[in-house]
Amino acid sequence: MNTSLAEKIVEDKKNGISDKEIGKKFGVNLKLIEKAVTQQLGVNISNPSKRKKKIISLDPQSFELETSTVWSFKSRGKWATHNGNYRGNWSPYIPRNVILRYSKEGDIVLDYFCGGGTTAVESKLLNRNFIGIDINSSAIELSKENLDFDSDLFSPNPSIILKVGDARNLSTIHENSIDLICAHPPYADIVAYSHGNPSDLSSRDVGGFLDEIEKVARESYRVLKPKAHCAILIGDMRKNKNVIPLGFWTIGKYLEAGFKIKELIIKRQHNCKTTGFWYNNSVKYNFLLLAHEYLAIFEKTKTNEEYENRTTALSKGFKIDKEIYLESTTVWIFNKNDWEGKAISNLFKRYSAKKPLLYKNSAKDASVDLIVNIGPKNIDACFKYSEKNLKDGGILAIFCEDTRGKHGLIKSTAMEVEKGLRGNKSFTLKELVILSIENGKPKNNADIEITHKYILIYIKAQINGK
Ligand SMILES: C[S@@+](CC[C@H](N)C(=O)[O-])C[C@H]1O[C@@H](n2cnc3c(N)ncnc32)[C@H](O)[C@@H]1O
Repeated sequence: MNTSLAEKIVEDKKNGISDKEIGKKFGVNLKLIEKAVTQQLGVNISNPSKRKKKIISLDPQSFELETSTVWSFKSRGKWATHNGNYRGNWSPYIPRNVILRYSKEGDIVLDYFCGGGTTAVESKLLNRNFIGIDINSSAIELSKENLDFDSDLFSPNPSIILKVGDARNLSTIHENSIDLICAHPPYADIVAYSHGNPSDLSSRDVGGFLDEIEKVARESYRVLKPKAHCAILIGDMRKNKNVIPLGFWTIGKYLEAGFKIKELIIKRQHNCKTTGFWYNNSVKYNFLLLAHEYLAIFEKTKTNEEYENRTTALSKGFKIDKEIYLESTTVWIFNKNDWEGKAISNLFKRYSAKKPLLYKNSAKDASVDLIVNIGPKNIDACFKYSEKNLKDGGILAIFCEDTRGKHGLIKSTAMEVEKGLRGNKSFTLKELVILSIENGKPKNNADIEITHKYILIYIKAQINGK
């Protein structure tokens, strides 16, 4: 973008003119406005006129630790210096939960995608020592501004180190020295965090991003103490009408680096619009609005788990409801008593014109629109069967779940099924749905209670990206 246009846009932003008015005046969209701000100020912030925030309270009001695998924060959290100004910063409830569960006072917390310093502020408030790294010097400056407040006068002041650096190369940090990593990577190609910096991972396409995140995962494994934890928040993307499961692929890179999964948490996103225009489009063009991210908690451990082979069973009283309210996002919230009926009714209503089929191995039907595998059961056989019996453009929906072994580690059948079918010529992953099954208030156990399942929705004979 030429400098004079960028200057004018930033001037208007500083004068408090809304993005809508700026858009109209200069004929630019939100992405270009963000580009102008990042180009001129070095950071992607939504409100350049209000960098410094007046502190009302240092703690969240009535905070409770999360106890189930579906996290949903109605407000983003505004205590201390937290605010939504830095684009893509995470809600402080996330690092607060992670820090409280997986570290103790005096430990060292590392965030190598430090951004505006949300994890840094939480570490300071919770008396953890902190190392924050970011590729963008202006983000590090913003973190310093956000850390410029007096914390609890009666607690020792933790050590906070902030520096410009690259998460792919943590050579200044000794191996086995960090107690907790807590970080939110930039998504491949979604929000631009800096201007013209090729080391910024947000400048990479999906393939390039995954190659680089592999290096970050290896460094994470090296610097973390044995048995310690590494928490990463990452979501999926959409290309045309199909989902790109970037979350599972990124988690896969951390597993390849040697980590095991301690928890796989679903973080609901509330910024997606689910009424009017978007609801209608989700039905008309048959796609679901992305409404979740994954918070993977990895453990550096050599423990090997044995898992019982569990598959979801269909309850006897299950009924198809033709009048069901059609879900429009990737998170479907049902009650433990009727979730199967509601989930399957949704699949039937959205994907099947006439002929749905529940996969049972022995079915002889052919030329159907939709096959549902409540399971996952006999995946290889089910795919062969679906290849033969589904119409072109037909849908195969597979129910999957996470299970916990006796040492407390998680196995995700959804990740296994997705990995097994990656690159399959006959089927493309179209949607990745989260079923959040409400079951009253979970007990406050050492392990988080698993309250979600997945539906992997494949479309026949449509190649990814086309
Ligand atoms: C999603 S933001 C993190 C936001 C942060 N959690 C917060 O709440 O402010 C991702 C950050 O990663 C940084 N980043 C991108 N590539 C990087 C790299 N190679 N090494 C370190 N930081 C990088 C970006 O500058 C951006 O600040």
